[in-house]
Amino acid sequence: MKPRILLVDDEENILKQLRWALEPDYEILIAQDEYEAKRIFEIMGPAVVTIDLSLTPGNSQDLSGLRLLEYFLTQAPSTRIIVITGSSDEASSLQAVRLGAFDYYSKPIRLDELKVMIKRAFHIHQLHQRIQQSYPGSAEGFHGMIGKSKSMQEIFRFIERIAASDVSVLIAGENGTGKKLVAHAIHNLSQRKDNPFAAVNCGASPEHSLESELFGHERGAFFGAYAQKRGKLELAHTGTLFLDEISKLTPALQVKMLRFLKNRKIERVGGTQTIDLDVRIIAATNHDLLENNVFDKDLYYRLKLVPLPPLRERKEDIIPLAHYFVKKLCRGRRSPPIMLSPEAEGALLMHPWAGNIRELENLISRAVVLSSHSVLKPSDLGFALNSIPTDVNLKFAKKAIEADFIKKALSKNNGIVSRAAKDLGISRVNLYELMDRYNIQIQEFKISRSSERQQMKTGEVL
Ligand SMILES: Nc1ncnc2c1ncn2[C@@H]1O[C@H](COP(=O)(O)OP(=O)(O)OP(=O)(O)O)[C@@H](O)[C@H]1O
Ligand SMILES: [Mg+2]
Repeated sequence: MKPRILLVDDEENILKQLRWALEPDYEILIAQDEYEAKRIFEIMGPAVVTIDLSLTPGNSQDLSGLRLLEYFLTQAPSTRIIVITGSSDEASSLQAVRLGAFDYYSKPIRLDELKVMIKRAFHIHQLHQRIQQSYPGSAEGFHGMIGKSKSMQEIFRFIERIAASDVSVLIAGENGTGKKLVAHAIHNLSQRKDNPFAAVNCGASPEHSLESELFGHERGAFFGAYAQKRGKLELAHTGTLFLDEISKLTPALQVKMLRFLKNRKIERVGGTQTIDLDVRIIAATNHDLLENNVFDKDLYYRLKLVPLPPLRERKEDIIPLAHYFVKKLCRGRRSPPIMLSPEAEGALLMHPWAGNIRELENLISRAVVLSSHSVLKPSDLGFALNSIPTDVNLKFAKKAIEADFIKKALSKNNGIVSRAAKDLGISRVNLYELMDRYNIQIQEFKISRSSERQQMKTGEVL
């Protein structure tokens, strides 16, 4: 497969010239304005992009090119972006490089020179990818996900297996637990990784526009359908479609989706022609879909469940995540390194995190922006001093984690103390002592037969 490049320019002539020169070596994507550029970028994920910095000629105040550059880099920081500028535009060229552009090229364009620069951009991108892949546990975690806890490590392994298998997936987890990141990880680990990734938020549009967003429509299908439109399923052909908030699909659309999963064919709204598609579906939900009996069971059981635990059930991840966000933010703002005080770490560990990782990320980012200290204290994180127990310090927090581990081991072993002790690597007597100290009641963990069956269902392997 040829490597993919996106060319953003408002001048048709230049695009034509570039296409002619690059087509033998690359798959060419083209956008003539900011909106189109974003849409194509999101779906196709090109490795290299060229942007003409003056998307509206004659208007030196136009910053859309620089805006696009920033947008692309926040969406996919490893994209290599070459900005093309007017010959007299030194200042914005330098600004572009400062913002993270790979390089700049001043007009007039000499194709052979530009081609060399593009080739180099692809080469660097590839090297970078290779380094990332050879260290899956490196600085960026598992595909941008930090998770040292045993439960997340297990999920990462599960994701790897699922990604390779091409099954349809349902990612279930509370708000802010990382469902979107998991969806991207599955796509990027699959054989479809070089093909489109499209996303639809099923909660964001009313039923009939959602139907046409998914399946497309023919001209005249309904009032306002002035032209034929291809739906996201079609755009995702050979790749992946991410259906966020799938619980918001109406029963009628659930049936249509199920039909697609069964026969891999669609018809556009108002159309009669049947279109064969090869699309992998990854769905996400923050509700229990079987609750209230409104979700189609047949559809539900066709999706392989990836359950993401809330942050409060994986306390070991809180501090590594906090450090990760602090570091990332400081790097992004080019500010000197900031640290968390032990008391601040203690406060983070005690917080319930109803908004999960997103809440943690927001809180850290507010603190990094607002505080002028190089060591963040609980008050910098917005924790009022009187809301923290006075003895919260790292020792206290470690105890909270210890109690957590014990509960997990007991729960995993259905309350059988000897086995839990073995998992924890301590003696039975020692475990009884600790349960006593933390007031952990053994009865809670002796699970009934029916919930045992339930557990097997979600934990079942492929
Ligand atoms: N394991 C993780 N490591 C690092 N960052 C994470 C992790 N999980 C989530 N995040 C970050 O937390 C934020 C929320 O994640 P994401 O959007 O994937 O959650 P979500 O489950 O889709 O949330 P919602 O249900 O609200 O749509 C994002 O900024 C994401 O980058
Ligand atoms: Mg989401």
